[in-house]
Amino acid sequence: MQTKWWHNKVVYQIYPKSFNDTTGDGIGDIKGIIEKLEYLCFLGIDIIWLSPVYESPMKDNGYDIANYQKIDPSFGTMADMEQLIYEAKKHDISIVMDLVINHTSDQHPWFIKAKKNKRNKYRDYYIWRDEATDIGSVFGGSAWEFDETTDQYYFHLFTKEQPDLNWQNKKMRHDMYDMINWWFDKGIRGFRLDVIDLIGKDIDNNITANGPRLHPLIKEMSNATFQKHDAFTVGETWGASVDEAALYSNPSQQELSMIFQFEHITLNWHPEFNKFKTTPLNRLALKNILYKWQTEIHPNAWNSLFFNNHDLGRVTSRWGNDGIYNEQCAKAFATVLHMMKGTPFVYQGEEIAMTNVKYQHIDDYNDIEIHNRYHEYVIERQVMGQKEFMQQVYLNGRDNARTPMQWDKSINGGFSIGSPWLRPNSNYLFINVDDNLKQKNSVFYHYQKLIQLRKSDNYGNTLTYGSFIPKTTEYDNLFLFERHYEEKRIIVAVNLGEQSVSFNWENSIDEILINTGQIDYFKTVTLNAYDALVFAY
Ligand code: GLC
Repeated sequence: MQTKWWHNKVVYQIYPKSFNDTTGDGIGDIKGIIEKLEYLCFLGIDIIWLSPVYESPMKDNGYDIANYQKIDPSFGTMADMEQLIYEAKKHDISIVMDLVINHTSDQHPWFIKAKKNKRNKYRDYYIWRDEATDIGSVFGGSAWEFDETTDQYYFHLFTKEQPDLNWQNKKMRHDMYDMINWWFDKGIRGFRLDVIDLIGKDIDNNITANGPRLHPLIKEMSNATFQKHDAFTVGETWGASVDEAALYSNPSQQELSMIFQFEHITLNWHPEFNKFKTTPLNRLALKNILYKWQTEIHPNAWNSLFFNNHDLGRVTSRWGNDGIYNEQCAKAFATVLHMMKGTPFVYQGEEIAMTNVKYQHIDDYNDIEIHNRYHEYVIERQVMGQKEFMQQVYLNGRDNARTPMQWDKSINGGFSIGSPWLRPNSNYLFINVDDNLKQKNSVFYHYQKLIQLRKSDNYGNTLTYGSFIPKTTEYDNLFLFERHYEEKRIIVAVNLGEQSVSFNWENSIDEILINTGQIDYFKTVTLNAYDALVFAY
């Protein structure tokens, strides 16, 4: 396999609005990120994926962009952004931005002009039809909005304030490529491409994801931008299969570095109500999906590895046990993730095992998806009760990931001295960075160790390039696998459940790399609730 500069890197995702507020306005800012670079460096990460900081009316917290070349004043200035790129580089950290190009905000000058009349050059930058079809928006309701001025409908797969761009328009595409290259010239190293599997849509045939024009479009974009800059790119592709992943990420395709696939994330979602009606996690199904992606992906393609992001409930609350086992559970999930082959992503707060939040009232929530779906399912269609809906919000609502970062025990968890845009989780009193840094066995130091192993002279290549070999076991909860590269072999054994599990180990052991449960590893190895053991032999 051709090696790439990013192959052994670890990515840290920052949701700027909730990370660190230096002005006291209750909203995190770019200066706040600069202030924490030392901390991120200590954790050991190499790349920051920054959720959108562009000018935006914030209907979808920045995923509705009004100007791709300006920083939203709530986050700071372009000078702050330039300073962040510069300071991060000094710490050997690369900045990767979020590229939201399936749609813009309805406040983007292109859309404002497009809406004026039918005959201006920006009209065709968006998608207009005389009649609406029955395609639905991802956030509920129809994907079509009627525009009275010009007597046509425009298409929006997300909120009506996020009109979809027409990727068939060559002029628009080239404007986008210029913008992307402009950011490269500023020194960023790559992009996370928001819902990129939607840009090849063929709506007249009801095709939104994985449309017929998708790969040619990504190739064109990549050749005009990413390939020239040896960029790190990761595409958000909700429905991608293992074979599709190779189309995107096999270097010979000249498209992207990797994709985020969501087969593991959606495995317990309902076919119609998705994250708002879920079943308890089936560990065996999770294991099968993770192993499938490890073993069946094309040898030249590349996986991303993640359990958390800004759209998901926190993993220990969603799939594990965020009560008495919160820390042990966070370490267990992290061990499985970081010992697999691919690029690990850490979402802010994951490294200290931040949990979901339970606000009592729907009005305490900010997320537009939660509000739209509440309106649709509970009020309009009455397909679920309020209690039932809130239970699912407590598990899977997007605001769970967006509560302010918990730095210390001071007011608002040290996030802001003002009034935070989203109420902090009150458990900051005992889950925070400060305490983690003081305790030798904390979740933070566990993450630090996992990251160091990926970079170590001894095991770096094994973890980065080693083959992945599943080991059979009768226990659904036991995630047991081997990584193998040249003469090095590592065994990973993690109990992702509460019942004890065991396996036999007759061979000798060279070195214990991780042992979260003080496990005795002579002949029969027993792992109690959420224990993790990693050793070389
Ligand atoms: C992606 C983002 C999500 C956003 C949506 C629309 O799924 O991760 O936060 O709401 O795209 O841009």
